[in-house]
Amino acid sequence: MGQTRATHVFMLLTLIGFFLIATEGNDQDYITIRTLMDDWGIKPQSWVGSDPCANWEGIICNNSRITAISLADMSLKGQLSTVIDLSELQILDLSSNKDLTGPLPASIENLTKLVYLNLVDCRFSGPIPATIGSLKKLSYLSLKNNRFSGLIPPSMGYMSNLTFLDISGNKLTDSIPVSNGTTPGLDMLQNAKHFHFSNNQLSGSIPPQLFSSNMSLIHLLFDRNNFTGSIPSTIGLVKTLTAVRLDRNSLSGPVPSSLSNLSNVAELHLSNNRLTGPVPNLTDMTSLNYVDISNNTFDASDFPNWFSALISVTTLMMENTRLQGQVPRALFSLENLETVRLRNNNLSGSLDIGTTYGRRLHLIDLQKNNITSLGQNNEGSNYNLTLVENPICAGSQNNIAKKYCNISPTDYSNSTPPSNCPACSSGQVASPNCICAKPYKQRLVFTFVSFSNLGNSSYFKALSDNLTSSFQNKSHPVASVSLSHPSWDSFSQLELNIEIFRSGNRVSFNRAENSAITSVLSNQILEGRPINFGPYSLLPSADPGGSNKALIIGAAIGGSVLLSLLVLVGVYALHQKKRADKTLSDSILLMQRTGISSADGPQLKGARLFSFEELKKCTNGFSEANNIGSGGYGQVYRGGLPTGQMVAIKRAKRESMQGAPEFKIEVELLSRVHHKNLVSLVGFCLEHGEQMLVYEFVPNGDLRDTLSGKSGIRLDWMRRLNVALGAARGLAYLHEYANPTIIHRDIKSNNILLDKDLEPKVADFGLSKSMAASGMNSETTVKGTLGYLDPEYYMTQKLTEKSDVYSFGVVMLELITGRSPIEKGMYIVRLIRMTMDKTKDLYNLDDILDPFIGLQTELNGLEKFVDLAMSCVEELQDKRPRMGEVVKLLEKIIQIAALNATTKNPPSTAASYEEYASQDSKDIYSRDFDYSGVFAFEDRGSSSMT
Ligand SMILES: *[C@@H]1O[C@H](CO)[C@@H](O)[C@H](O)[C@H]1NC(C)=O
Ligand SMILES: *[C@@H]1O[C@H](CO)[C@@H](O)[C@H](O)[C@H]1NC(C)=O
Ligand SMILES: *[C@@H]1O[C@H](CO)[C@@H](O)[C@H](O)[C@H]1NC(C)=O
Ligand SMILES: *[C@@H]1O[C@H](CO)[C@@H](O)[C@H](O)[C@H]1NC(C)=O
Ligand SMILES: *[C@@H]1O[C@H](CO)[C@@H](O)[C@H](O)[C@H]1NC(C)=O
Repeated sequence: MGQTRATHVFMLLTLIGFFLIATEGNDQDYITIRTLMDDWGIKPQSWVGSDPCANWEGIICNNSRITAISLADMSLKGQLSTVIDLSELQILDLSSNKDLTGPLPASIENLTKLVYLNLVDCRFSGPIPATIGSLKKLSYLSLKNNRFSGLIPPSMGYMSNLTFLDISGNKLTDSIPVSNGTTPGLDMLQNAKHFHFSNNQLSGSIPPQLFSSNMSLIHLLFDRNNFTGSIPSTIGLVKTLTAVRLDRNSLSGPVPSSLSNLSNVAELHLSNNRLTGPVPNLTDMTSLNYVDISNNTFDASDFPNWFSALISVTTLMMENTRLQGQVPRALFSLENLETVRLRNNNLSGSLDIGTTYGRRLHLIDLQKNNITSLGQNNEGSNYNLTLVENPICAGSQNNIAKKYCNISPTDYSNSTPPSNCPACSSGQVASPNCICAKPYKQRLVFTFVSFSNLGNSSYFKALSDNLTSSFQNKSHPVASVSLSHPSWDSFSQLELNIEIFRSGNRVSFNRAENSAITSVLSNQILEGRPINFGPYSLLPSADPGGSNKALIIGAAIGGSVLLSLLVLVGVYALHQKKRADKTLSDSILLMQRTGISSADGPQLKGARLFSFEELKKCTNGFSEANNIGSGGYGQVYRGGLPTGQMVAIKRAKRESMQGAPEFKIEVELLSRVHHKNLVSLVGFCLEHGEQMLVYEFVPNGDLRDTLSGKSGIRLDWMRRLNVALGAARGLAYLHEYANPTIIHRDIKSNNILLDKDLEPKVADFGLSKSMAASGMNSETTVKGTLGYLDPEYYMTQKLTEKSDVYSFGVVMLELITGRSPIEKGMYIVRLIRMTMDKTKDLYNLDDILDPFIGLQTELNGLEKFVDLAMSCVEELQDKRPRMGEVVKLLEKIIQIAALNATTKNPPSTAASYEEYASQDSKDIYSRDFDYSGVFAFEDRGSSSMT
C-alpha cells in the first residue's frame, strides 16, 4: 500500500488554512497556495488550478467552502500545523498516513462544525489537547493506533454528541475522568455507543460513576490496560451493552452479580485478571456468543450449571479457573457450541461426551486436567479433543485415548477448498470469480467475532459477502472480496488477509479508489454487517505467498445467505423488537406487532417504528446532500441506519399527507408483502406531525432513468426481458399470493427500481388497494398516472387487477422503445398499433426500437414480447391476461431468447454493468461515509425512489 508512491512533504493543515482563505476569495492567497504547492511538489493529478473546490481529489465543498477532507492512505508526510481555521469543515479523515507526526494542535477547537474526525493509524503523539472538548458537534472520534500519551482530557465529557469514541492503541495513562459537579468527565457522554479504550496504559480503578442507566453504550472495550480494583457493579445499569472486554488488566475482587443484568451482551471477556470469589453466574446473559473468563483465581468449584442457559454460545473459554469435578455431558449438546477450552483446571473422572453432541462442535481442549477415563464417546466424531497432560494419557494407553494425547496442529489455510482458477501472470492474483488482477491487500484484525471455528468457511463467506455488498452499495468499483489466512492473535482477536478486487476493465485500483477503500475500512463500521463482526483494524498485509494454497472464500454478487448469518440477524431482530416496543405509541402498537411478528427472514421485514430524531440523524438532518428525489408527495432522502443498512426515507409534504387511516393502510400493506421483486418496508415514523416511510435502499435508480440514459446504465435485450419478468413476478405476487390481494394502481417505469444486480423491484404502494379494504367500490376519484391509466377503469371506475396489467403493458412497450408513454404528443400504445406490421421482420418496429436494445444481441422473441404487451393494453379488461399468465409467457420468451442466442457478441449483461461501474468510479469521492450516525455524502444520480 502506497510504497510505490512518491511521498510528499506535506504541511497539511497549513495548507488547509490557506484553502479557507482562498475560498473566501483572497487572491493573494490563491497565489500563495500555488507557490507552496510548487515548492513542495504537492501534485495529486487532480489538484490543478487555484480552486480546491474544483474537483480536487479528497476535497469536498459546499457553496465554495471546504466541508470534507478525506485523504486516507495518501502518503501524507509532515505535521498538523497550528493554523486550523476551516470553519465549515465537517469531515476530516487522514487515516493510514504513517508519516503524519507531531501533536494534535490545540487549535483543533476551531473546527467547530466537525462531525467526523478519523486519525486511525497515523503517528500523532503528545497529549490529546483539552480543547477537543469544544467540538460539540463531533459524533465520531477515532484516534486509534497513534502514539498519544498523557491523560484522557476530562473536557471530552463536553462532547455531548459523541457516539463513537476510539482512543485504543495509544499510550494514555492514569484513570478515566468522571464528572464531580465542577469538572467534566466521560460519564457525561450519554449518547456514546462505543468506548474503545483498549491497549493503553490506563490505570486506577474503573470509576463506578462512569456508568448509569442513561447511557447508550453498546461496546465497552477496556482490555489491555492497567486497571485495578474491582469491576464496578454499576456496569449492570448499561443494559444496551452488547460487548464487554475487560480482559488483560489487573482487576480484582468478585465479579458483581449485576453483570448478569446485561442480557444483550454477546461477547464477554474477563480473562487474565485477578478476579476472585465464585465463578460468576451468567444464567441471565442469554445472548452470549463468546465467553472468556480464563486465568482468574475464582473459588474452586464444580462446573457451573449456568452454561445450559446459554443457548447462543459458540465459544466457552474457562482455562485456569480452578474448576473441579466432572465435565457435565449436557455441555456438549449445546446447539451452537463450537469451542470449549478448559485447560489447566482440576476436572476429573470420566469424560463423557455422548453421541448427541451439538453438530457444530469443533474443539474440546482439556489439556492439563485430571481426566482418568473416557466414557461414552463417539468414534467417528468430527470434533478435535485434546487430553494432553491428563492421567489418561500417562502410562499404558488404550488406543482410543492415544488419539487424543497428541497436540495436532491445525492449519486453517488448507482447511477449505483451494480455488480452481487457472494460474495468473506474475504479480497478479485470481479473484473469487477467477479473474486475474492486482487486488487491494490488507490484514484485518477483528476485535471480536461471534464464532471460533476458523475451519468453517461459511463464516468468511458471510463476511466477504457483507464486505462486497457494502462496498458496492456505496458505488465503489468492487467486484469481489476474498479473505484468507485466518488466525487468532494473542489477545483473542481474529486476523485475516483481505484482498479486494476491482470491477470493470482495470486490473487494479487507482490511488483515489485505494484511499477511499482504506477510508471505508478504517472507520470500523461495516455496513450491513451482523452485529458481531468488528470492530476491526488494519495490519500491513502478510503476503500469503503461494496463492494456490490460499483459502479463498469468494463473494460473488448476490451470494446466498447463510444460516450463521441468519442466526445472528435473528438475534439482532430480537434486540430491535425490544427497542421498538419501548417507544411505541398505543395507536401504532397493533400494526407494529403484526409487522414484527413476521420478522423472521434475513432482513428485518417487519415494519419498525422510528423516532423523528433517529431519522433526522441518519439523514444528517434531512440535508440537501442526502436528498435523492422528490415528487408531488414530498422528498426522498437517503440515510444509513446505525446497523449499517442503507434506507430511502420518503417524507411526505404537509399538503400531501394522507389521513392517518391511509397511512396506516400503506404501512400495513407493505409490512405484509415480502417478495424479492417488491421494495420492502423497513419502518415508518409518525412523529412531530410527520409521515415518513422507510424503505430498503435500492442503489441503481428507477427504470425510467435507465431507459432515458440518465443513470448511465444500458440494458441489453436479455436484461430488459429480465426486468420485465421480475416486475411481473412482483405484481403477480400482489395480485395472486398476497393475503388479501393487492392492486398496485400506479405501475409505471418510475416505480420500478433496479438493485445492484439490476434486478427489478416494484415500489410505491401509496395508491395501492387491498381488495379486502372496505369502501373501495365506492371510489369516486380515479387515481394513477397519465399514460399508464387503464381506459376501462378511467371510464367506468371499475377497478380490478387488470388495471395493473394495462399499466404493465405500457411499461413493456417502454422497455423496447425506451420512450416515455407520452412523448412529443404521441401515445406509445397508439404509436405501436399504427406502426406495427406483423408480416414484416421485427413487426416493422425497427425505427421505434430503442437503439441500445440490440447492440449486443439478436432480438430473439421480440415479436412474442410485443404480442404480449399488446394483449396487456387491450381496451377491455376481460381481454387482458392475468399477471400470472404474463409471468409464464415472459418465462417462455426468455427461454426462446436465450436458446436462440446466436448472438453478435455473447449476451453480455455483465458488460453493461461493468461499464457502468467503471464510469461511476470517477466519482469515488462523492461517496457517503459509513458512519451513518454522522454524515452521509450523496453520490448523486445513483438512486431515486418516487
Ligand atoms: C481559535 O480561533 C480564535 C479566533 O480566530 C482564536 O482567537 C483562538 O486562539 C483559536 N484557538 C486556538 C487554540 O488557536
Ligand atoms: C447533536 O445532534 C443532534 C441530533 O443529531 C442535533 O440536533 C444537535 O443539534 C447536535 N448538537 C450539537 C451541539 O451540535
Ligand atoms: C472535583 O474534582 C476536581 C479535580 O479533581 C477538584 O479540584 C474539585 O474540588 C472537585 N469538586 C468537588 C465538588 O468535589
Ligand atoms: C502496566 O502494566 C504492565 C504489565 O503489567 C507494566 O509492564 C507497565 O509498567 C504498567 N504500566 C504502568 C504505567 O503502570
Ligand atoms: C444463577 O442465577 C439464576 C438466575 O438469576 C438463579 O436462578 C440461580 O439460582 C443462580 N445459580 C447459582 C448457582 O447461584
